[in-house]
Amino acid sequence: MIGAGYVGLTTGACFASLGYNVCCVDIDEGRIADLEKGIMPIYEPGLAELMVESRKAGGLRFSADIGASVADANFVFLAVGTPSTTDGDIDLSFVVSAARGIAQHLPDNAIVVIKSTVVAGTAKAVAEIISSDRAGRRITVASNPEFLREGSAIADFRNADRIVVGADDEGTARSMKELYRPLTERGIPFVATSTIDAELIKYAANAFLALKIGFINDVANICENAGGDVTAVAKGIGLDQRIGPAFLQPGPGFGGSCFPKDTRAFAATGKRFGAPQPLIETLINCNENRKNDLAHRILEVLGARGQAKTVTILGVAFKAETDDVRESAALSIIPILQRGGVSVRAHDPKAQAPARRMLGAGAGVEWHDDLYTAVNGADAVAVLTEWDDYRRMNLSRVADLMNGHHLFDFRNLFKPEKAICHGLVYHSLGRAVGRAEKMKAYAQGGGGPALIEVAASPL
Ligand code: NAD
Ligand code: UGA
Repeated sequence: MIGAGYVGLTTGACFASLGYNVCCVDIDEGRIADLEKGIMPIYEPGLAELMVESRKAGGLRFSADIGASVADANFVFLAVGTPSTTDGDIDLSFVVSAARGIAQHLPDNAIVVIKSTVVAGTAKAVAEIISSDRAGRRITVASNPEFLREGSAIADFRNADRIVVGADDEGTARSMKELYRPLTERGIPFVATSTIDAELIKYAANAFLALKIGFINDVANICENAGGDVTAVAKGIGLDQRIGPAFLQPGPGFGGSCFPKDTRAFAATGKRFGAPQPLIETLINCNENRKNDLAHRILEVLGARGQAKTVTILGVAFKAETDDVRESAALSIIPILQRGGVSVRAHDPKAQAPARRMLGAGAGVEWHDDLYTAVNGADAVAVLTEWDDYRRMNLSRVADLMNGHHLFDFRNLFKPEKAICHGLVYHSLGRAVGRAEKMKAYAQGGGGPALIEVAASPL
């Protein structure tokens, strides 16, 4: 497994738990040294424990020596990063450099499997690169895109909706099917296709999921202005089996290391092949604007420009159950608040260290390890990640500790009636008005300020 990151470590540990001998390799020697000492470079629930088990059983090892590690391999997975270039296209340099690093060391019958998310045609191009570095001795390159989600990666590997394998010859497809037999025997569908189709499936799947999120965020905006409740609307449309209930949760804009970069790469690929993807191009802009709009909602409510207000950000990871902050909403929203004159405090149960690294030393964010200390004295609190710690927090205590009353819940973690009972001015997504009447009862009962009301003029 070349690349010991979120995908490489999870896939490596999961294959080892199926009984295979796995070596996870990385160019980052410090990372490999840590892994050998049992220090995890990332947070993924259950992964540390699975790795300890697999190492004890002898099926999992680590190495920084790429050449030696592939010398007796039957399958060599490339699970290195494929970040965006500055113009939104895909940077394949890590894939190419990993391919070059293994080319001369591969046994003739090894199959190279591209697990990284790559654009159409990459498997074929990698096969050419490897074969030219081996003086023409050809190696088969398969495409096996990964669909796991951070935070539930192990379960996603073991109970995948499908395994997609692209291979341009039957022998490779058969070997790959045999490799995955422990999973297909349990009923997981195996989709055998060409390498180009497998590469396109990965991008099309991510683009479609991202579209669902962008769509429900826009629906939430209508609900706010029209007096609707996005939770009810999402439920009502999601019960249609052709639509499905998943990925209809409004939020602060999708983030992470995948949807933002993969939608950009899909749009760039469309242009390259003369088939532009206007839906996806619009989605990319909408998602960027979403973060900006939500930051400005906070600024407008606080009237903060030029005034010394403090906002506490709860959650900097791009979603719960991960320490990954790549393209997280928080990392976009924090600087906008700061430019609006706001002092920012932040808390995250797992992602503080990566966020500090990403934001840099002079970022001016005040970090807190304890969430109640973080909200103490704040004029507003904004929940940006759906951690259970926040879902379970004591709102009454939060309201008492705060200097102001504004709770911006950009993950819809709380029932509005519960939040306002504690005297908070509650701003959630897509649920602003519809319950106003119901809320009045709570507010009149001494519950303090009600929901933020938005003018609705149906006629
Ligand atoms: P990551 O950044 O966590 O890990 C990549 C690792 O590869 C790093 O540790 C890096 O040091 C190492 N690396 C880079 N060049 C190398 C080389 N030449 N030899 C050996 N190691 C090298 O990345 P990730 O999140 O695991 O993503 C990997 C790929 O999988 C990407 O293409 C991503 O789009 C795709 N993917 C990611 C997820 C996810 O949830 N993170 C899910 C599905 C697909
Ligand atoms: C996503 C896909 O779900 C995986 O199938 C895929 O393998 C992976 O990208 C990838 O290609 O790397 P991941 O990025 O880990 O997985 O996380 P998701 O759960 O998909 O969430 C992505 C973003 O969308 C997060 O910011 C999340 O908060 C947001 N989201 C998700 C919503 O705002 N609403 C939803 O209903 C679902």
